[in-house]
Amino acid sequence: MASRMITFALFCAALALTASAQCGKTCRFRFCRLSDMSLRGKGARTFLRAPFTSLSGVICLPGSNVTDLRSGQAMVAQGKDPNMVPISQFSPAGLDTSFPKRFFRLFPLQFVPEEQGMGRLRTRGNQQEFLDDLCVVLPITSYGEFEKDESITRVSGGGRKDCVSFRTRNPMVLIELSWDSADDFDLEVTEPNGTVVSRDAPDAGVGELNNDNNVGACNIMIPAGKEAVLYRQEDELMSGDYTATIKHFNNCGDGRTRYRLRVIVDGEVVVFRTGLSNAPKDTVVTRVNFSL
Ligand SMILES: *[C@@H]1O[C@H](CO)[C@@H](O)[C@H](O)[C@H]1NC(C)=O
Ligand SMILES: *[C@@H]1O[C@H](CO)[C@@H](O)[C@H](O)[C@H]1NC(C)=O
Repeated sequence: MASRMITFALFCAALALTASAQCGKTCRFRFCRLSDMSLRGKGARTFLRAPFTSLSGVICLPGSNVTDLRSGQAMVAQGKDPNMVPISQFSPAGLDTSFPKRFFRLFPLQFVPEEQGMGRLRTRGNQQEFLDDLCVVLPITSYGEFEKDESITRVSGGGRKDCVSFRTRNPMVLIELSWDSADDFDLEVTEPNGTVVSRDAPDAGVGELNNDNNVGACNIMIPAGKEAVLYRQEDELMSGDYTATIKHFNNCGDGRTRYRLRVIVDGEVVVFRTGLSNAPKDTVVTRVNFSL
């Protein structure tokens, strides 16, 4: 009897451990890299970007070719808390406005609208303060599956494993450059005291460069690249004038590339700049000044 209780206690401890150790371990849908469809880990850390758009990996199902996915209400847990709750019932101390059921949902990927990624709605009240380090399990309620003859069979999901999981990173400020070709662009940010955060000095300033280019390689025909400089919640942001410098670093020769620059502060886009460039290697395309 005693040994059975000990076994049971151990079993519970192991369950609690695995729940906190890996976010969304059961989920069989994954984030795939657009460049080669390689898998990202379950519960992979994912930056929250601007509302109503997606710059995450593609949501894929290993071994299948899926399309037109639908998602349900996300389950969430804060930090190491093993207890997942539906996001509409998530009520950490101090939250003044409940999250809507579909706060996290699927959006077409920016520049690759035939693929889907994760996105979110705009925050209300002080919701923004509760979005960092959340384990999110997003159920996939149904999806289409391509057959060999290219017809699509609709499959209903909703099972325990029909989900995709990620852990949120919610920067205080995100300066984000994205573009619609296989070319490579570079983003540099000059901070108020003159320090430049760049490819050559990713950690020089208070902010840090996140070089998660999909590839920027001409032989891989991925029409979507991205690069960002971010300031974490705990960073001591300098107030003052900033400059974002956009460089066309490598041109594959396939014509003009559309780029987008967004400065996102506390989840809201405060600066948006878009344009076209067909500049030769390592040319400054434009500089955008903004104040924080
Ligand atoms: C999935 O199937 C469609 C239609 O046959 C095809 O166009 C697409 O390239 C396939 N995707 C992958 C990742 O195999
Ligand atoms: C600007 O401030 C950062 C962070 O305090 C510091 O690391 C850097 O050396 C400063 N740069 C200059 C040019 O003063």
